[in-house]
Amino acid sequence: MARRDPHSYNDDTQAEAVSLALSARVDFTSRTLAAEATLTFVKPAGGLLDLDTRDLAIEAVEDLAGQRLAFKLHPAEPILGARLAITLPDGTPGIRIRYRTSPQASALQWLEPAQTSGGTQPFLFSQCQAIHARSVIPLQDTPRLRIRYTAELTIPGALTAVMAAAHRGREAQGDVAIERFEMPQSIPPYLFAFAVGELVSRDLDARSRVWAEPAVIDRAAYEFGGVDKMMLAAEELFGPYDWERFDVLAMPPSFPYGGMENPRLTFLTPTVIAGDRSLVRVLAHELAHSWTGNLVTNANAEHFWLNEGFTVYAERRIILALEGPEAFAIHEALGRRALDESVARFADRPELTRLRTQLAGVDPDDAYSQVPYQKGYFFLRLLEDTVGREPFTTWLRSYLAAFRFGSITTTDFEAHFEGAFPGVLAKVDAATWIDGPGIPLTAAQPRSRRLTAIESLGGALPPDELARSWSATEWQLYLESVPRPCAHCAKLDERFHLTQSTNSEILVAWLTLALQSKHHAVVPRVEQVLSTVGRMKFLRPLYAALAADDRAVRSIARDVSPDRAPAGRQRAARSRSLSSRHRGSANPRRYTARRVVARRAADREAPARAGRVRVRAR
Ligand code: BES
Ligand code: ZN
Repeated sequence: MARRDPHSYNDDTQAEAVSLALSARVDFTSRTLAAEATLTFVKPAGGLLDLDTRDLAIEAVEDLAGQRLAFKLHPAEPILGARLAITLPDGTPGIRIRYRTSPQASALQWLEPAQTSGGTQPFLFSQCQAIHARSVIPLQDTPRLRIRYTAELTIPGALTAVMAAAHRGREAQGDVAIERFEMPQSIPPYLFAFAVGELVSRDLDARSRVWAEPAVIDRAAYEFGGVDKMMLAAEELFGPYDWERFDVLAMPPSFPYGGMENPRLTFLTPTVIAGDRSLVRVLAHELAHSWTGNLVTNANAEHFWLNEGFTVYAERRIILALEGPEAFAIHEALGRRALDESVARFADRPELTRLRTQLAGVDPDDAYSQVPYQKGYFFLRLLEDTVGREPFTTWLRSYLAAFRFGSITTTDFEAHFEGAFPGVLAKVDAATWIDGPGIPLTAAQPRSRRLTAIESLGGALPPDELARSWSATEWQLYLESVPRPCAHCAKLDERFHLTQSTNSEILVAWLTLALQSKHHAVVPRVEQVLSTVGRMKFLRPLYAALAADDRAVRSIARDVSPDRAPAGRQRAARSRSLSSRHRGSANPRRYTARRVVARRAADREAPARAGRVRVRAR
């Protein structure tokens, strides 16, 4: 027996499921799915079969002929969940499992109508990466194995279901509707995804449409309108797009990530809808995953850099092709800054700053950081510099072609690269990059004219003319480069109205700088952001800055304590389900001093945990 993924009970000597047929009734009242999952094996099998589950109530296990099979649901382990052990009679071609999910299913966020833009219908979405698919479906929840699936979702008739799959029709039945889907391309389980809500769509081009709540659709359609050009640029670089469609879903604001590369239907935070397409880097990133990650997949979370480092590389190549070398360099510089910060944040766990990690006993959500993204990027950038851009791109295409619809480890990557460029890995000391902690000295220091202009300010107030020429990314880089505490915060805001910025990246970079400089005038705006946005990238720096500042915390606590909060705050509390969960309460008026201070203590003790994901509504 061998378990080849530290985050799955899957045993590579057992039967392997190649397809899934899921039928699920979505019940917003009980916040559960009542479901039946049929798994079909590569070939008929017998003996023990271990599946991953988390918080599932298993009602029955049968073979495909309806014969009951013996099973045992083991006690749950904290990271992996509960092992479902099934005994298969010899020659069993597949199994059917009847079960219910828990209202606490870690992959599911159930939103109240007040947490949506429309305000009248509830909303449900899934987020399965890294190891949450098992809270929705009992299966082999390891990216080492891929499945195709069909799904049939029974939902309230007033709502629409979308899925990271092809739509195969909708059938109304009284006050419910059945939505059918089929995923013809095989995927690792973390790419299983769906959402249910009041959703409408708009076509962007022949291969793409955008989905959103009605109140958001116009803005979303404009923001993502350049997707066609992006796809053409990406295909030019990496080869044909293999997933037929590339649709995007603008999520409710509580979505915990910037984006999630669910195949055929990327999920995007509404915080990238800036009105001027300035934050579409996230779209480029998720699109790039269609090659790196979705087509060539990390075999387990220890090789996560193969997904994210390659994707950041691919994303920046798209940006270079569409926006040119200056934009490219600014993005690289932001990446370098993020890398330096992450490595510093993980000072007490340097083993998590390797590209290839050892994660037995570590929750992948706790290991999450910018390291696999940016260190991975700078490593690939070094390889590219060493062999030349064109040869590297040709190699990248051959790597994608060699492993498409497969799952690989770092060793597979090394062998493939070595085959194309013998001796280069040794020459750049790849071993230090891959298995050593921190940032090797050979990491590039991004350079460009515009970058130098920002750096030469040394954080001083920029001249109006220069600042007016800045892109959102340049603003972000400038604000991050201002030494803390900054003495000219009030002037900065007066001149450039940063507190009023409608660009979420600029806004959060500014609010972080202001809080870290004890410029307390921004506290109400911080509070507003924290109460509406669930994107962890934004919550983490804001909470960390608050946690380091007693006065700001007290002022927030005073403003929002339950007895002082005006009724209007109820509305401000929409869409805060992730942040509300962080504070452990479903009450919209929940920011008591005690809770913020409790968070603060938690952040101090374990800074890396601030980014943990638990996509649950409460
Ligand atoms: N696949 C990730 C999101 C993810 C990673 C979810 C690990 C759960 C576990 C996605 O592609 C991603 O990297 N999103 C980034 C945006 C991007 C522009 C770097 C994010 O959400 O910040
Ligand atoms: Zn990614």
